[in-house]
Amino acid sequence: MGFPVHRPRRLRKNENIRRLVRETTLSVDDLIYPIFIEDGENIKQEIPSMPDIYRYSIDRLDEELEEVVNLNIPAVLLFGIPSHKDDVGSDTWNDEGIIQRAVRHIKKNYPQLYVITDVCFCEYTSHGHCGVLHGGNVDNDQTLENTKKQVISHAKAGADMVAPSGMMDGVVKAIREALDGAGFTDIPIMSYSAKYSSSYYGPFREAAQSTPSFGDRKSYQMDPANRREALKEVALDIEEGADIVMVKPALAYLDIISDIRSNFNVPVAAYNVSGEYSMVKAADRLGWIDGEKVIMETLLAMKRAGADIIITYHAKEVAKLLKG
Ligand code: PBG
Ligand code: ZN
Repeated sequence: MGFPVHRPRRLRKNENIRRLVRETTLSVDDLIYPIFIEDGENIKQEIPSMPDIYRYSIDRLDEELEEVVNLNIPAVLLFGIPSHKDDVGSDTWNDEGIIQRAVRHIKKNYPQLYVITDVCFCEYTSHGHCGVLHGGNVDNDQTLENTKKQVISHAKAGADMVAPSGMMDGVVKAIREALDGAGFTDIPIMSYSAKYSSSYYGPFREAAQSTPSFGDRKSYQMDPANRREALKEVALDIEEGADIVMVKPALAYLDIISDIRSNFNVPVAAYNVSGEYSMVKAADRLGWIDGEKVIMETLLAMKRAGADIIITYHAKEVAKLLKG
């Protein structure tokens, strides 16, 4: 029994009825804001391809943190840019490393803010790859050993959650064992489970100075052509002890978010990555799209696809828009 009995437009007549039948909402509660922290003093450096996103030194971080707290954004995800890079990325497990000092500063001055640390090596290695190299290839198991040292150091500094992004096999298991062995049984792991080898990371690599000096990341990050493989990666991560799984990038991978949501019962995070941010900002600046509306529509689509959490450089502007 179709038309004229059924007229779907009845439920679109005005904003009140639209509010009542709306299936998906976007809230500040869903957002994680990434922050770049650079070793040094008095640094507030805008990233050329990411308007309004800056690299801060710890002594300039407060202006950013105060805004995040005032906007009621629940969590930040920290990326460090060390002054010292070497072939293994040893700053990552140095208790006086850039991230460890940043975490201590934040937890001391903004204890209510939830602090998540990115766990990888590419910003810290002289070659820009996400682990230890052996014959031009990233050595999986040696990288796991260094990852264990890194997460224990992050936990000792006060991190609330760790987020491994290097796509090493077995990394969640290695981290869970390391944290539990050191007494940090209640620190959760948000795993970058389905992280694709994507050209959308370009602006981030400029921001974090983490472009590989040779080759690419295709031997560890996923092939953008693969959909079923994402379910395998997520299943392995959950089995190894992941508390939250992530899909990255987000917008070009909504099918992956949707598949994971319908196959698993853990929270799903979507990483709205740097290139997605830059494209919206560029088109908005050219006057070609209404940036604010496109941002809200895009993040809503990620929620509709099944994401519970969105990691986004737009977090502050979205929080302001939601406040009205
Ligand atoms: C590094 C890392 C990357 C991002 C987060 N962690 C880049 C990469 O894999 O080269 C991308 C984030 C973004 O583009 O916003 N492991
Ligand atoms: Zn990396």
